[in-house]
Amino acid sequence: MDSLPSRFQSPLSMAVAALLVLVPRDSVSYGSPAGSAAPARRTVAQLYAQSALQLIDEDIGVYGSTPSGCASSHLDRPYPRSPLHRDLPVDIEGLIALLLLSVYEYCQRGNLSKMRARTNQALLQAMDMGLHCIPEEVDGFQESKRRAWWWTIHLLYLTSTLQILPPHILLGDSRITTPYPSYHVSPEPWKLYMESQDTYLDIARFVKDLESQYPSPESVPLSSRHEIDRFDSKLRSMMTESNSFVGPDLQDSIEAHAARNIWNYTRSTLNSARLRLYRFIAFSKRPIFLWRHCDLPALNQPPSGDEPMTHSVGSTALTTDDHIHNAEDLTNEAVHASKACLKSALAFTRSFSAICSPDNCADGTILRPRPLPSFACCAMQASYTLLILLYTLEHAVASGNCVRYRELIYDPEPGTERNGLERLIQELRDNVTRMLHTMDNCFSTFEGVMAMPEDVRNAFQYIGASGE
Ligand SMILES: *[C@@H]1O[C@H](CO)[C@@H](O)[C@H](O)[C@H]1NC(C)=O
Ligand SMILES: *[C@@H]1O[C@H](CO)[C@@H](O)[C@H](O)[C@H]1NC(C)=O
Ligand SMILES: *[C@@H]1O[C@H](CO)[C@@H](O)[C@H](O)[C@H]1NC(C)=O
Repeated sequence: MDSLPSRFQSPLSMAVAALLVLVPRDSVSYGSPAGSAAPARRTVAQLYAQSALQLIDEDIGVYGSTPSGCASSHLDRPYPRSPLHRDLPVDIEGLIALLLLSVYEYCQRGNLSKMRARTNQALLQAMDMGLHCIPEEVDGFQESKRRAWWWTIHLLYLTSTLQILPPHILLGDSRITTPYPSYHVSPEPWKLYMESQDTYLDIARFVKDLESQYPSPESVPLSSRHEIDRFDSKLRSMMTESNSFVGPDLQDSIEAHAARNIWNYTRSTLNSARLRLYRFIAFSKRPIFLWRHCDLPALNQPPSGDEPMTHSVGSTALTTDDHIHNAEDLTNEAVHASKACLKSALAFTRSFSAICSPDNCADGTILRPRPLPSFACCAMQASYTLLILLYTLEHAVASGNCVRYRELIYDPEPGTERNGLERLIQELRDNVTRMLHTMDNCFSTFEGVMAMPEDVRNAFQYIGASGE
C-alpha cells in the first residue's frame, strides 16, 4: 500500500476505504450491480482490508496488549498520529477498524467464520482496553467509547446468531458496567435493541435443537410448545415496548437518524426472531430457494463443510418438479403458526425498507444511504415466508380449498374467504416486489449478499408463472 496517500495511515481509514471502494461513484447506477468495475473494486477493497489488518497489528505494537483496567484514561499515552476524528481517541481506531472488517467479511466476502474471528479479536481488544467497564466520567471520550463497546457486542451477537454459536461474553455478564450509548432521545433505543438480539439468539438456538431433534412439526412435544408460547409472549411484550418510541419530534440530524435506525433495527430483530420461532412449525423444512442462504432450506444442497452464507446463482433453472412439493396444504396447526410468520414477515418488510430506502431530507435533498446489509439473513427469511405463503395460498385458491386459511384473512366472514385470500395474495405479491426493491437498494454493492435478491426473484418469477 506504499502508493496510497500518507494520511491513510490509520487502520480505520483503511477499513472505511475497503467498504467505500465497493460503492460505485455514479449515483445513476444506484440500485444496479457494480458492473464491469466489480473485479477491480473487489481487488482494491481486499488490499485496503489487508492493509487495515497490518496497521491494527502495528497499533498493538505501539499501545501494547496489556490490559489497561477500567479507570484508565487514554489521554496520557503518546499518540503516534493525529486522530481521524476529534471525538474518537486514536487508540480506538484499530478496534472500530476490526468491526468494519467484520462487516466486510459478512457483506462482501460472505465468510461468516472470518466475520466471527474479526469480531472476537475486537472483543478481546475492547476488554483489554477496559471498554466494558467505563466509569461515568473519565476523559472527554466516554460516549465514543460506549458506542465502540456496544457496537462490538452488537456484532458479537449478530455473528453468534448467524452461526448459532455461544458468544464469548453474555449481555448479562456482571463485568459489563458500561452504560448504553445515548442519543438524547426518550426512550433511548440501545437497551431494548441489545435485549432483542439476546432473545433472538436464544430462539435461534432453541429452534435449531428442535429441528435437529424432531423430524416434523407434528412430533414436537407439548413441553417444547409451551416453550414456544413463552418466547412468543416475551417477544410480544418487547414489541409493545418498541412501539413506545415516537420518532416525529426528533430533530433532523445524524444523531436523530441513528436513533431512528436503531429503533427500526430493534423492530426488525424482534420480527425476525418471531419468524424464526414459528418457521419450522409453520413450514417444516420446505425449500423454496434454489440455493442455500443462511440457515434456510434449499432445493440444491451444497456439500457440507464451512459453508458460505450464500451461493451465487448458477445457470440451473427451476423446474416445476422442484417446486411442486411446496404446493401441499398446511395442517391446521401450521396455518396457526403461519399467521404469526405472516405478520412478522410483513412488519419486517416495512421496517427493513425504512432502513434501506433513500431519505428525503428537510432541505429537499435526497440522502441515499447505502446501509450495510446487516439484515441480509433476516431479509431472506422474510422473503422465504412471503413466497411460501404466496405459493400455498395460490394453490388453495386454485383448488378451492380457501376455508382452511380463513385465519390468515383480515376479518373473515363465511363465504368471503376466497375474496379475502385473493386480496391477501395481491398484498403478498406487492410486498415481495417491495422486498426485492429494498434488497436491490441495499445489497447491490456487496458481493457476499448480491446473489440473495436473484434467488428471491427466481422463486417469485416461478410462482408468477404457475399462478397465472
Ligand atoms: C424507521 O425509519 C423511518 C425512516 O427513516 C422513520 O420514518 C421511522 O420513524 C422509523 N421508525 C422508528 C420506530 O423510529
Ligand atoms: C473463510 O475464510 C477462511 C480463511 O481464509 C477459509 O479457509 C474459508 O474457506 C472461507 N470460507 C468461505 C465460506 O469462504
Ligand atoms: C404489504 O402488506 C401490507 C399488509 O397486508 C399491505 O397493507 C400493503 O399494501 C402491502 N404492499 C406493500 C407494497 O407494502
